[in-house]
Amino acid sequence: MKEVHRKQPSGIGIKGIGSYVPEDTLTNSDLEQMVDTSEKWITERTGIRKRHRASPDQATSDLAREAALRALDDAGLTPADLDVIIVGTSTPDMFFPSTACLVQKEIGATNAAAFDISAACSGFLYGLSIAEDFVKTGKYENILVVGAETLTRILDWTDRATCVLFGDGAGAAVVGRVGDGRGIISTFMASDGSMGDLLKLPAGGSRMPASEETVRNRLHYVKMEGNKLFKAAVKAMVNAATQVLEDSGYSGNDLDLLITHQANIRIIDATANRIDVDQKKVYTNVHDYGNTSAASIPIALAEAKQKGVLKDGMLVELVAFGGGLTWASVLMVW
Ligand code: ACO
Repeated sequence: MKEVHRKQPSGIGIKGIGSYVPEDTLTNSDLEQMVDTSEKWITERTGIRKRHRASPDQATSDLAREAALRALDDAGLTPADLDVIIVGTSTPDMFFPSTACLVQKEIGATNAAAFDISAACSGFLYGLSIAEDFVKTGKYENILVVGAETLTRILDWTDRATCVLFGDGAGAAVVGRVGDGRGIISTFMASDGSMGDLLKLPAGGSRMPASEETVRNRLHYVKMEGNKLFKAAVKAMVNAATQVLEDSGYSGNDLDLLITHQANIRIIDATANRIDVDQKKVYTNVHDYGNTSAASIPIALAEAKQKGVLKDGMLVELVAFGGGLTWASVLMVW
């Protein structure tokens, strides 16, 4: 029989996890009052039943701060223990300072360097991959990786094809040394800028600065080619999911838990089927949150842990895709 060589965990992984979502929710029937849609269409085509919405006084860094404090508490660490803060977001409070710097100030992480990464929905997994490599160098011990979004602020509430899909929230993880036999086994990141037009926010940057015309033409909102994106998403997720499994000598069948980006239940199901993972091992919560972009995977991780679904020693795979396009995966022993 052919001997299977399996890559061992690096001993670097998630020491603590936390999430925060705003209290206010929008149900599918609420949306029926706002645009020409139906509860049935949204549920059947996306799996989403409700999404959370930040209150008018909450910005992305406020959600990130709460998730960060919960992750630190879970790790048994204080803000002063952090060496680096990485925030993945497509909805920063402002262009600069970075949301990571705002979080640093808010939680008092005075010893941490802080920066944002822009990788849309893949932001948290890109951050996890960067954090693992930073810790590997020996230069840094504890790195806070946050995915945080207030997508409801950039949605066109007259566009039924996008406004029903997204929600607000934040998730955070403290990455550091977790001991032998545990932690990250393999990471993977990829991009294809040639498909960037499928999901974008056209105006407000240096290409098309804000003007009366950009506001009139509703160019400060998310524009999406849903159908093309759907196909690209399934392809990208399957590619990402397969890469880390093959790199490590595992198959989909070996997984104890699969947590993918929560954009659409049909994308999640198609991905799980194609990599041969039993539906029972797939954690989903898209019905309660909608697509929270970079926050989606850490919110699901925190919830799965809280519910006792995610347990010590499990072989867990995380898979994401997003605008850019970007896609990524992480295989780890929890
Ligand atoms: N309510 C009712 N009807 C709708 C709605 C709505 N909210 N939205 C679209 N429709 C209509 C369309 O107008 C179209 O009508 P037509 O046939 O008369 O033209 C019909 O429904 C079918 O539209 P499709 O776009 O083909 O529907 P599809 O089954 O592909 O579902 C969806 C649309 C849910 C957007 C799907 O394409 C999708 O999930 N795409 C990926 C989106 C995504 O994941 N984006 C984010 C990824 S990256 C990130 O997370 C940042």
